[in-house]
Amino acid sequence: MALLHGGQLQHVAKQYNIPSSDWIDVSTGIAPVSYPIPNIPLSVWQQLPQQNPELISAAQQYYQCTQLMITNGSQAIIKALPALYRQKNAECQDVYLPSRGYKEHAHAWINAGYNLHFYQEFLPEITEILPNSVLVIINPNNPTGQFFNGQVIAQYQERLKHLNGLLVLDEAFIDVIPGNQSYCSQIENSHSLVLRSFGKFFGLAGIRIGFLVANSYWCAAFKELLGPWQINGPAQLIAQHALQDTTWQATQKNSLKQLRIAQEYMLKQVFPQTILRDINGCNLFLTLSFHQQDTAKKLYHLLCQQGVYCRLSDEQDTLRFGITTEELLERLALACRQACQQLT
Ligand SMILES: Cc1ncc(COP(=O)(O)O)c(C=O)c1O
Repeated sequence: MALLHGGQLQHVAKQYNIPSSDWIDVSTGIAPVSYPIPNIPLSVWQQLPQQNPELISAAQQYYQCTQLMITNGSQAIIKALPALYRQKNAECQDVYLPSRGYKEHAHAWINAGYNLHFYQEFLPEITEILPNSVLVIINPNNPTGQFFNGQVIAQYQERLKHLNGLLVLDEAFIDVIPGNQSYCSQIENSHSLVLRSFGKFFGLAGIRIGFLVANSYWCAAFKELLGPWQINGPAQLIAQHALQDTTWQATQKNSLKQLRIAQEYMLKQVFPQTILRDINGCNLFLTLSFHQQDTAKKLYHLLCQQGVYCRLSDEQDTLRFGITTEELLERLALACRQACQQLT
């Protein structure tokens, strides 16, 4: 069965009978301001997508790595990996995953028949990891915002290599973590790989671009599996420009940081400490947890009734707000205030 995600505005608008143009959609962690679309020559629309060396080199520069593969969103790799890994390591049965985290990972591994072991706050005890197993780390985690530093990850990479296992690092939101904290430059062998999502930081999830940073074994295996023309030509050109544009990237990082600070401040002002337990996240989303189990669900409905669409967690006990623009913050604040007053 398909999983539920944010970004289903049409469906939610219909459910609450409010035209989709009237909503504030903060249901995803996609940046509210997107990279400006450059001019796209007609030939790029007309021709079949071709290998674009300028895009590859821009991506190698941006992700600080030598080997990578462009994909139709990192989701394409998440879905295909379990079956491909079985071909590489027929002994593998066990996969460690965060219990709260982007659920498509668990979905893909369980559908392929692996045994799942969940961890949350702490990574599984390093000495207890089973031989041939897979460890998935979402860094920072969506929706908890939890982040593991490079030193910790290096220990697990070493351990998994020793155990003939695999480390999968999903860095979909790492672009907004201050300092260069990505693990892309440290992938050494076929026992680890990194997934990078283009759409979130650049605000262009609709063009479906992602990257696999891995050694040549994995890049070749995925290329063979996924076949030609995975990524359309216009999307490749847009990504090339965006990845080359370091000035825009710096502005985007700074503005997301300012917007997150303002939004977090607003949320803390609106929801009293008697209701709100904590806010966690990163500069692309904020996740609110509450003292009472049913608060998130009630607030979700109260906000939807006012045309504000956030993401109610699958566990129904937290709310995740994507970062919104300065222009919409006031309206978001009003809706949150009203929802808070209506809570019974
Ligand atoms: C943690 C995480 N990883 C990967 C993805 C997939 O993103 P994409 O396929 O757009 O790269 C998502 C989407 O929300 C996500 O939250």
